[in-house]
Amino acid sequence: MVTEDQLTDSPAPATRPPQSRQAPAVRSPDGSPETALRSSEWFAAEGRPGMIYRSWLRAEGFVPEVFDGRPVIGIANSWSELTPCNAHLRGVAESVKRGVWEAGGFPLEFPTMSLGETLMRPTAMLFRNLMAMEVEELLRANPLDGVVLLSGCDKTTPAMLMAAASADLPAIMVTGGPMLNGKFRGGDVGSGTHVWKFEAELTAGRMTQAECVIAESGMARSCGHCMTMGTASTMACMAETLGMQLPGSAAWPGADSRRQLTAMQAGQRAVTLAREKVRPSQIMTREAFENAVRVNAAIGGSTNAVIHLLAIAGRLGVPLKLDEFDELARPVPTLVNLMPSGKFLMEDFCYAGGIPAVMAELGDLLHTDHVSVTGATLAENIEGAQCWNRDVIRTVDEPLQPPGSGTAVLRGNLCPGGAVIKQSAASPHLLRHRGRALVFDSIEEYHEAAVRPELDADESSVLVVRGAGPRGYPGMPEVGNFVLPKKLLERGVTDMVRISDARMSGTGYGTVVLHVAPEATVGGPLALVRTGDWISLDVPARSLTVEVSDEELASRRADWTPPPSVHQRGYARLYTEHVLQADQGADLDFLVGSSGSAVPRDNH
Ligand code: FES
Repeated sequence: MVTEDQLTDSPAPATRPPQSRQAPAVRSPDGSPETALRSSEWFAAEGRPGMIYRSWLRAEGFVPEVFDGRPVIGIANSWSELTPCNAHLRGVAESVKRGVWEAGGFPLEFPTMSLGETLMRPTAMLFRNLMAMEVEELLRANPLDGVVLLSGCDKTTPAMLMAAASADLPAIMVTGGPMLNGKFRGGDVGSGTHVWKFEAELTAGRMTQAECVIAESGMARSCGHCMTMGTASTMACMAETLGMQLPGSAAWPGADSRRQLTAMQAGQRAVTLAREKVRPSQIMTREAFENAVRVNAAIGGSTNAVIHLLAIAGRLGVPLKLDEFDELARPVPTLVNLMPSGKFLMEDFCYAGGIPAVMAELGDLLHTDHVSVTGATLAENIEGAQCWNRDVIRTVDEPLQPPGSGTAVLRGNLCPGGAVIKQSAASPHLLRHRGRALVFDSIEEYHEAAVRPELDADESSVLVVRGAGPRGYPGMPEVGNFVLPKKLLERGVTDMVRISDARMSGTGYGTVVLHVAPEATVGGPLALVRTGDWISLDVPARSLTVEVSDEELASRRADWTPPPSVHQRGYARLYTEHVLQADQGADLDFLVGSSGSAVPRDNH
């Protein structure tokens, strides 16, 4: 057991002053060293243009000295009362500002689009690319030399990293931290993970609605994002692993004073990054992504990280393929014992040592010479990191799950573009399974059928839901771990093989095959499966096949017609016309790549 003294003695990597390292030489497009700050294009201008830029900002009460050539640091804040996980970020921004002022910068906070996972319909994922596009354009259009990115809820972190990658402006991220552990009836409950458990209990008649209402308040006890190893916690850990946020900071709870401390340090560090012109493209390298894929396997991270990392890499031109999430992770055991794969929650993970302790345990499996926003190498950043609770962070020699048990990438005639399954959250006895398909064309159709007592299904059936991919739904909702049929739940069945072109919440669990590509709506083989077909899942062999001949599939394809698009205008039309498939990160095709941070033309 970890003691209070041990906690106090912890080296707490985030509290160490960031070390500075000579930034790689930055060159202008003409090859000359780049020296002037970007903001000087606005504020150092003489005559009318400079006066306009400075005067209107002084309406906010700033002294003239803020225009003396100091770095202007934007604080991109995804605060919103409609995003409960990010609702405390205005307080975090105040700490960032303190750090920026203290380091000699000029902080300017601005609001960004925010994506509340629980409230937005049809799914927050539909808007990830819109937020990324908005933040990218805000960074480029404004007189900023650097930016602190404040994120938290699932999609806000990848959206901001995608934006920072494409604008390639010096940037550092501060995620809002997880909620404190949920509590119900004397035990820990995890946000998300226990929602699925309680739903199954309610459906089976083992829990009442009144009990669910009591449970829901105990599940969200403080500010912060989901405290399981769901997508938000995973992406916070990925931001830290990629080197974009300070060491150790992903796990500090939102309510912990050290969240504010880390925010102040990030503000300080942003000023140095802006002065040294250290850009995200210098931090998020191929080595950084390899580290991220491996750490994701070690923490039992969300399957959504696959899509988000592919999208971020796409913005940077870093070569990263879907199959590498399997290949790179094969030597990596699952070390972190957190829900949904394990038992504990993010608060426990934080006190056990967080990401630095995981990285120290992985050792040579990582590129330890990778340089992060601290200016130090990974080896330097995690020096002295220790694990304070081996129940929470296991050793490589005694892991939670053996090497190769992370996210597996499947191939076969049902998913020529690939599909994924989170092995650590699946039932071992179902990882090799053959069963008859029961096919539904939408999640709504399934939900309607799943409560009928006459549904022709048993525990060996393979449940297939299609029409929930990036283009089909649209937005690829988190419905892949759909609740089992009522009559089977009542019989005590706890898991079945489920296959879809949807995603799953990072807090979800079960033997669920996700991200089937190409999706059914664009004519992937998933569109051709019929109820009664035999489907064979063999995760150890990484295969997913429908036992139907090529000739029969070709005949079915000849009869198949694509569903008509129902989105005639607005963002939904733009999205459905341009979204890429899951194996390519589900970004919009015209957003892949980077436009850099060159100063746009002056209009004054
Ligand atoms: Fe925001 Fe889970 S709902 S992180």
